[in-house]
Amino acid sequence: MATPPTALTDLDAWERGVPYGSFARLRREAPVAWFDEDRPNRGFWSVHRYATIVEISRDTAGFSSATGVSFEEPTAEDMAARRTIIDMDPPSHTKLRKVLAPSFTPRAVAVYEHFVRSLTSVALDEALPLGEFDFVGHVAREVPIRVLGRIMGLPDGNLNEFVELGDKLIANTDPEVTDVVWGRDDTDEFRLYPFRSPYGKQLWDLGRALVQDRLRQPGDDLLSTVLAAEIEGQKLTEVDLDNFFSILVIAGNETTRIALAQGVLAFCEHPDQWDRLRHDPGLLNSATEEVLRWSCPTHFMRRTATHDAELQGCRIAAGDKVVLWYVSGNRDEEVFAEPQLFDVGRSPNPHLSFGRGGPHMCLGAHLARLEVRIVLDELCKRVARFALAGAPARTRTNFTNGLKRLPVAVEPVR
Ligand code: HEM
Repeated sequence: MATPPTALTDLDAWERGVPYGSFARLRREAPVAWFDEDRPNRGFWSVHRYATIVEISRDTAGFSSATGVSFEEPTAEDMAARRTIIDMDPPSHTKLRKVLAPSFTPRAVAVYEHFVRSLTSVALDEALPLGEFDFVGHVAREVPIRVLGRIMGLPDGNLNEFVELGDKLIANTDPEVTDVVWGRDDTDEFRLYPFRSPYGKQLWDLGRALVQDRLRQPGDDLLSTVLAAEIEGQKLTEVDLDNFFSILVIAGNETTRIALAQGVLAFCEHPDQWDRLRHDPGLLNSATEEVLRWSCPTHFMRRTATHDAELQGCRIAAGDKVVLWYVSGNRDEEVFAEPQLFDVGRSPNPHLSFGRGGPHMCLGAHLARLEVRIVLDELCKRVARFALAGAPARTRTNFTNGLKRLPVAVEPVR
């Protein structure tokens, strides 16, 4: 088997671009491969093909989420303090998911359509007349957090603070975003907080103040629903509530922002596809799915083997980390015809951007789709052409496909 290159953990390389070429080679030559990591980490099994990713996602008994979903190797104490729904296995995962799921069905999220459209209009009214602007700051950053704010019942005045704290957590490897950098600084004193970051504690504190407020005065928001919920006769604990809050702010905000920004970047680079979409509104749904496949906002999720196993000829030992690279699966030639083509008419498009096959498949998928579809729809009505007006700035991370800035020039529809 070929020796894998080290680029998958070289965050400076990811800041320059996604290593699609390395993934294509790995899919062909080493569909499952061991990668060493710097201490204190032990290394990981890296999974590159679509079918194997889905197989592992399904097998929650063999591949657990309970030790976390990132490269970090937390202790049992760390996990007990900051376990969110995404770090649970059935049956506890199933019970918590049942509490949240009714708020995220296609029908439940459809009520936000008008709200998303008006938010998008306001953002575009301000940005488009500028002619050249940063699409991340003006549009992609604005829509998802305001939608999340509405669903969760977050006060408008705090929304910027949520965005900034969320960014400092999910981009905890980028020194431009946070001053406490995972992998560079000693983060041991913060190990009981989300992402081993002091900003995780700040997010909890904001959440706790809101919980107190909602306990005094319940509303019809998701936080009030969760506060009223009981699992087997028990209310959620303070730890559960802290972590419910952090997963939603982190999972529901940055990811959708990335899809929007990377989608517009794709249309800057493929103007023929923008023309095609603008002239055929029937492509809006398939374009939304293609933007999600192409942008793959979350590059991977990690599992931990619960017992010895064999995968594609590799012997996995109980306790080994197993990293599922959705970003590679989304370009797997065995599933997608010409995967390197950005094709707004692609159908079927069973991408892995929300996960697939297992019980953790993204809870907010219908909401995220709604947001991407509406922003594309509004842009189609107003923008004839996008072009890059400078170099996009990527986040220094291999976890997300984050863009910090996307300078664009727009030609309005006349
Ligand atoms: C384009 C936007 C989004 C992307 C790419 C995305 C991606 C993902 C992925 C890859 C997973 C893990 C899947 C797995 O392990 O099988 C996940 C889980 C999750 N997502 Fe999303 N997500 C997005 C938007 C949202 C939104 C808008 C929300 C909520 C408002 C949300 C909430 C969650 C939650 C709570 C989980 C954990 C579900 C569980 O463990 O049962 N996500 N998401």
